[in-house]
Amino acid sequence: MKISSVKGFHDVLPAESARWAEIEATARDIFDRYNFSEIRLPIVERAELFRRSVGETTDIVEKEMYAFEDRDGTVLTLRPEGTASAVRAYVEHAMQTQEPVTKLSYFGPMFRRERPQRGRLRQFSQIGAEVFGRDDPAIDAEILLLLSDLLQAIGIESAEIGVNTLGCSDCRPAFREALVAWGESHRDQLCADCQRRLQQNPLRLLDCKQPQCVALRDGAPRMIEHCDPACGEHFARVRQLCEEQGLELVLQPYMVRGLDYYCRTAFEVVASGLGSQNAVGGGGRYDGLVKSLGGPQVGGIGFALGVERLALVLEAQGGDAPRPAPEFYIAPLGAAGESAAFALGHRLRAEGARVEVDSGGKSLKSQMRRAGKMEAPYVILLGEDEVGSGRITVRDMQARADRRGVAALDTDINELRAALSAAATAEG
Ligand code: HAM
Repeated sequence: MKISSVKGFHDVLPAESARWAEIEATARDIFDRYNFSEIRLPIVERAELFRRSVGETTDIVEKEMYAFEDRDGTVLTLRPEGTASAVRAYVEHAMQTQEPVTKLSYFGPMFRRERPQRGRLRQFSQIGAEVFGRDDPAIDAEILLLLSDLLQAIGIESAEIGVNTLGCSDCRPAFREALVAWGESHRDQLCADCQRRLQQNPLRLLDCKQPQCVALRDGAPRMIEHCDPACGEHFARVRQLCEEQGLELVLQPYMVRGLDYYCRTAFEVVASGLGSQNAVGGGGRYDGLVKSLGGPQVGGIGFALGVERLALVLEAQGGDAPRPAPEFYIAPLGAAGESAAFALGHRLRAEGARVEVDSGGKSLKSQMRRAGKMEAPYVILLGEDEVGSGRITVRDMQARADRRGVAALDTDINELRAALSAAATAEG
């Protein structure tokens, strides 16, 4: 009996993983430019970490965490996101004692038991960045510019960054009260979930997707009008710094994000080509989080992008996924050819070439077909004649020409490449 993969847990097949590798390599390059260093975080954490950071009443913690009891009774969870883990590591290793500002990047799988659909999986991969130790608006702007540079370098054409301010622990209580009062006065028109959220987590009313709540929302109070002067100035400065660098941000006064740790600047990236799951990334500031998890009072800000969604957007834009091809396909003919092919292949690989060595006594025709399918630009033919004379024949697949005796059987990669390019030039 065949065993299939688990619902919401997907294989990333080679045709797709080349695109992933490109996205991740691009991200590493951009993170380097902004002086971020990678942290590799564990996949399993104590469940309590996310309860205390993401928030007890969020969908993630209430409904979507993969939590289980370990054999010793500890309640563990497959991490649903990376920020809480990064904060845990920052506190655990007292990173503030090494450098006042810590800039971390991370890559890897996250787990949320959501209802799977296009762009929504139970295991998905994030590319994330977190900064600890700065609370000035310039670092918020730096993070937004990094995010924008990254999206551009990856090739996401339709990305739009929406921003909002969520205020701080000083001004949020009054806003919360205004929101509850507004919600109570419209209680009958709210969906059942929002009626429940009204007392527990009223901010969530603002990003409910139910049509009746969306329709009501335009009359709801906005944080940008209720925040205190310090939060208002901070937000204005972030937007100004981004604008000065030519980065357009779209004000979304009702965006609240689905995690409780945010304060002040919050943002979300949407892109077309994804259908209803159109958020490719999100992030924001979380100034109280490090302290609440036992660390010093330092500010924090970061974001995460979903790799599956980035790949879907690139696919919808019509870009081909990169298809890595071997530079040399070695086609042996006969027993003498096979052992020479094996040795030559090993040497060319050691010298840095991508090489496929055929075997098993296939016909020349079937080996050429396989080489063509792999899009190898050169096929090295090794039969009795080549082994006897000590010179190899190479078929240049693009020129459709055989280069007889173009190089010695014990050639090195540089000589071989030079001989092939000289033969092509001579041919004109
Ligand atoms: P988030 O908005 O929950 O934020 O997730 C960030 C991104 O992860 C989403 O925009 C989406 O692209 C991807 N994602 C989330 N859930 C799924 C899913 N079920 N299937 C596929 N992709 C998904 C966070 O996780 C925060 N930790 C971001 C952050 C970092 N904030 C500050 N620092």
